[in-house]
Amino acid sequence: MTPCQLLQRCAGLERATNCISSVDLGALVRPHVTINCAMSADGKIGFVTRTQAKISNEEDFRRVHRLRASSDAIIVGVGTVLADDPKLTVKKEYAKGRNPIRVVLDSRGRTPNDAFVLDGMAPTIIVTNSKCTRAFRNAEVVRCGRRQVDLLRLLDVLSEKGAKKILVEGGESVIWSFIHKGLADEMKIFVGSMVLGGKGGPTPAGGLGVTKIEHAIPLKLQKVGRLGGGILLEYSTKKRKG
Ligand SMILES: NC(=O)c1ccc[n+]([C@@H]2O[C@H](COP(=O)([O-])OP(=O)(O)OC[C@H]3O[C@@H](n4cnc5c(N)ncnc54)[C@H](OP(=O)(O)O)[C@@H]3O)[C@@H](O)[C@H]2O)c1
Repeated sequence: MTPCQLLQRCAGLERATNCISSVDLGALVRPHVTINCAMSADGKIGFVTRTQAKISNEEDFRRVHRLRASSDAIIVGVGTVLADDPKLTVKKEYAKGRNPIRVVLDSRGRTPNDAFVLDGMAPTIIVTNSKCTRAFRNAEVVRCGRRQVDLLRLLDVLSEKGAKKILVEGGESVIWSFIHKGLADEMKIFVGSMVLGGKGGPTPAGGLGVTKIEHAIPLKLQKVGRLGGGILLEYSTKKRKG
């Protein structure tokens, strides 16, 4: 059992026995995880066609690139690589600093050979499940998880590589997985002043969702601010009861 898994197990025991109430044990060892995304005023993070929508304004791009420069690793899912083909580097026009490690959660090895994340411009890790045998140019491969990527184990691997600050940039399935498993510490949402519409279009958290309000994942609003013509919402996650 890895250190993150052990502490997560202790946190479960703690909930069951109600013996420690205010310390998130898992958070003591795992890297600090910040989720960041940009959504439209109607709560969409992309077009209904699941292609990339430019929701951020210049001020937000500057903020995001500064956030990247201050992070040790950026995580996205393969859905985002297939939809947006992001570079996930720090653009010099927006921020100074080194490129963080790019990490793609890609259980079945679907990252295209010509994807920007494989261009060798920044250190890159493709994370597959243990059955996948594919190798990728310009990237290290980490195999972890039987079906999808085991996020706790991945955080251990990244922690062993010295990562202390991790930025999760989407998409909706990966954001849900981090929040649902209680592995996110902060969530930052830029709200662009536009409506994208589209029934079933991607939102800041996909996955299965919850069906009872008692199961909703609580957040604590830390800051609200105007950013150019949009709004930045900053939340910390709250320790869940029970
Ligand atoms: N506006 C923004 O800030 C922003 C940012 C990023 C993306 N987006 C949008 O988000 C949409 C893509 O979202 P998406 O949900 O389709 O893709 P995603 O979250 O980027 O990737 C999901 C895929 O990651 C893989 N995966 C591996 N381990 C996982 C785990 N533990 N939990 C969850 N997923 C795991 C799964 O594919 P396998 O089973 O094949 O591994 C899964 O289908 C696009 O429309 C994109 O434009 C918007």
